[in-house]
Amino acid sequence: MSQHKSGNAGELHQSAGKSNKDLTTAQGVTVADNQNWLKGGQRGPSLLEDQIAREKIFHFDHERIPERVVHARGYGAHGVFKLNESLKGYTRARILCEVGEETPVFVRFSTVAGSKGSADLARDVRGFAVKFYTREGNWDLVGNNIPVFFIQDAIKFPDLIHAVKPAPDRGFPQAQTAHDNFWDFISLTPESMHMVMWIMSDRTIPRSFRFMEGFGVHTFRLVNEEGRSHFVKFHWKPRLGMQSVVWNEALKLNGMEPDFHRRDLWEAIEAGNYPQWDLGVQIFDQEFADSFDFDVLDATKIIPEEQVPVRTIGTLTLNGNARNFFAETEQVAFCTQNIVPGIDHSNDPLLQGRNFSYLDTQLKRLGGPNFTHIPVNAPRCPFHNYQRDGHMTMEVPEGRVNYEPNSWDEKDGVRENPQTGFTSFAESLGGEKARIRADSFADHYSQARQFYCSQTDTEQQHIQDALVFELSKVQRTQIRQRMVSHLLNIDRKLARHVADGLGLDKLPAKTEPAVAPRNDLSP
Ligand code: HEM
Repeated sequence: MSQHKSGNAGELHQSAGKSNKDLTTAQGVTVADNQNWLKGGQRGPSLLEDQIAREKIFHFDHERIPERVVHARGYGAHGVFKLNESLKGYTRARILCEVGEETPVFVRFSTVAGSKGSADLARDVRGFAVKFYTREGNWDLVGNNIPVFFIQDAIKFPDLIHAVKPAPDRGFPQAQTAHDNFWDFISLTPESMHMVMWIMSDRTIPRSFRFMEGFGVHTFRLVNEEGRSHFVKFHWKPRLGMQSVVWNEALKLNGMEPDFHRRDLWEAIEAGNYPQWDLGVQIFDQEFADSFDFDVLDATKIIPEEQVPVRTIGTLTLNGNARNFFAETEQVAFCTQNIVPGIDHSNDPLLQGRNFSYLDTQLKRLGGPNFTHIPVNAPRCPFHNYQRDGHMTMEVPEGRVNYEPNSWDEKDGVRENPQTGFTSFAESLGGEKARIRADSFADHYSQARQFYCSQTDTEQQHIQDALVFELSKVQRTQIRQRMVSHLLNIDRKLARHVADGLGLDKLPAKTEPAVAPRNDLSP
């Protein structure tokens, strides 16, 4: 333990005979013997009275906290983001306007489905979460290494994750994809087909975190000084280029070195080979959004780069390993709702659900409402408010005032600031309240087909092989057939290859394209 603070006053008493090298209890008492529990006699019983041993064991007993409900296995690093091109005119967010300004960041890469102790080379989506400690507050870009997602509406997320995680009765399989429950859910969820093409591609077995792209996935808004808004998609492009391993290598690596990715990142940073990514943006307006074939609020769709080229505006450099894995990588709390003035949410129904989910889960995972005081989560700009008390209060606010407005504290009190404070984009809202999915979300196959067809022969072969490998683990024929039916809507040759690989005698019928929107079920 290397903390040397002493409570309120923050001053260290230099007491006689005690040095900074002395091992102490949590109460600051120097320990004389850290090897032996207090005993009643030479070979006698261990005494409950031993407050030093009991305190040590008590702390150890509470060392674990719940792992993240998803993205449990991850690895983090510190870095810096530097802006190279200003987006002034599109946004008032300082981090996107001040060219040359450097903003500290903490980044956590992760797998989605496995537990904390799972292997790095699992075929899985990788999380790519970035916390920017901007001068205007924390901005979290909580993305993945794949630009689309499985589902369109956050209400389906618990089902998706239940299906991905080990089956509840038997507690296996832990491999996320080779799984009856997973493929059962997927085959009943046509909106996931675009994502299925990406996860069966080599993107889900990256060579290392350093060779991965990242995506904010959702359409966000940029809002300028005048309150005008443009839509934006965020991209991370690795300076090292994008590389994956092949499935055979992934299997071997998982056996030989389950920590392959975390070790790679740690060693590169230790050696001064700092990995870098360029931040790219696709910016478009409402008129483009209205003319686009798909709904820009649908997280199962991309905005093709041929239509809206990616503009590179800044560079992320990871230049420092986490100083302590638990304190930083485990305790970091990313949340899509953390945005700064000039950046805003869109009505993407997946994003809207995420905005609730992260804060809610972190209240439990990190033990109450004060996890924002943990150093890795605290803003690096001044912050003042009247949020008070609760578990693990670290700050010691002074004075009698804990509300606003008040007339006690003219000099030091904090007030809202309409000029510089966060204001939401003034979007007009309308329509009837209903549980509904817009028809503009209904095409689940066109972009899946475009992605598959854009791949080289070798890449297509890998997708086919991955599908055959994964689906051959599925016991139920009906599920295999349902999946091949979907593939028929994507590409006939792909479906044929997978059907052959699975030993299906004849191709099943195509599925009805628009199964997902259930608007017809409303009364
Ligand atoms: C965690 C990305 C969808 C709930 C994460 C993390 C990432 C991520 C990168 C790990 C953060 C870290 O390293 O600590 C995404 C992306 C999504 C998505 C890109 C879709 C575009 C959702 C949805 C929900 C959700 C729809 C719920 C409605 C969670 C939860 C955690 C998490 C509860 C754990 C957070 C924690 O314990 O700190 N997600 N996610 N995610 N995600 Fe998502």
